[in-house]
Amino acid sequence: MEKVTTASIREMKGRGERIVMISTYDHLTAKMVDEAGVDIILVGDSLANVILGHQDTLSVTMDEMIHHTKAVSRAAKRALVVGDMPFMSYQASAEDAIKNAGRFLKEGRAQAVKVEGGRGVMKKVEAIVQSGIPVMGHLGLTPQWVHQFGGLKVRGKTAAAARAILEDAKMLEQAGVFSLVLECVPWQLAKFITEKLEIPTIGCGAGFHCDGQVLVLHDIVGLTGTTPKFVKRYADIGGTMRKAIKDFRNDVKTGKFPTLEHSYEMPASEVKELARARKRKRRG
Ligand code: KIV
Repeated sequence: MEKVTTASIREMKGRGERIVMISTYDHLTAKMVDEAGVDIILVGDSLANVILGHQDTLSVTMDEMIHHTKAVSRAAKRALVVGDMPFMSYQASAEDAIKNAGRFLKEGRAQAVKVEGGRGVMKKVEAIVQSGIPVMGHLGLTPQWVHQFGGLKVRGKTAAAARAILEDAKMLEQAGVFSLVLECVPWQLAKFITEKLEIPTIGCGAGFHCDGQVLVLHDIVGLTGTTPKFVKRYADIGGTMRKAIKDFRNDVKTGKFPTLEHSYEMPASEVKELARARKRKRRG
């Protein structure tokens, strides 16, 4: 089985093949995602809210991201693994950016990293690319900018805001990113950017015209609570799990579990021998 590479992702745009990316964070689910033929597994910094219980993505650390990237990389036989650079792992300096991006490849065994932002982080993106590490860009609603934006709302709804995102997209392409996530932007803007760029765009709430789509696994299988408009639920695993946990609890409380079916048995001769031995011991 051939591993997906950053080059093959770019070629997919050339031949009009849609790119599928899923965010997940552990070995068990990454194996399922890989075996299903998904092209890219993103170890997203959404790890912070989806798995670690933070209210936003800002608190997840490099060490936590690396820990989860290692688990995912061990499962991904075919899919390209992209490690999401967490808040403040690349913003302060190009040196930080290179060192931390390098950790994703060296320790996490990812094949690329993702960085949020446009012109404000361009120097860092260039530095990472020039050190030989493939970078996926991310524009539109970039959750690490939550406080700058004053909330997590759709971006690029006015012509001026859309133009700024388009300019950032072109700059990122120039800086050498191999693909670009567009999150929560109007579909018309995503279409425009997709047509203007040679690199593939991967939409997340950015409509049908992107070259690929990304969603968080836990959202599409119904493990998370309320989800945004752009998420499509394909299963209710959360509901199934909640019922299974309740059933187990009730079975234990009422003595229905375990039965002989779930117990180990000693041969009858050994049970007799055990009883005889206990009798002998009692007699002294
Ligand atoms: O962190 C993440 O999972 C992401 C995707 C939703 C694009 O950034």
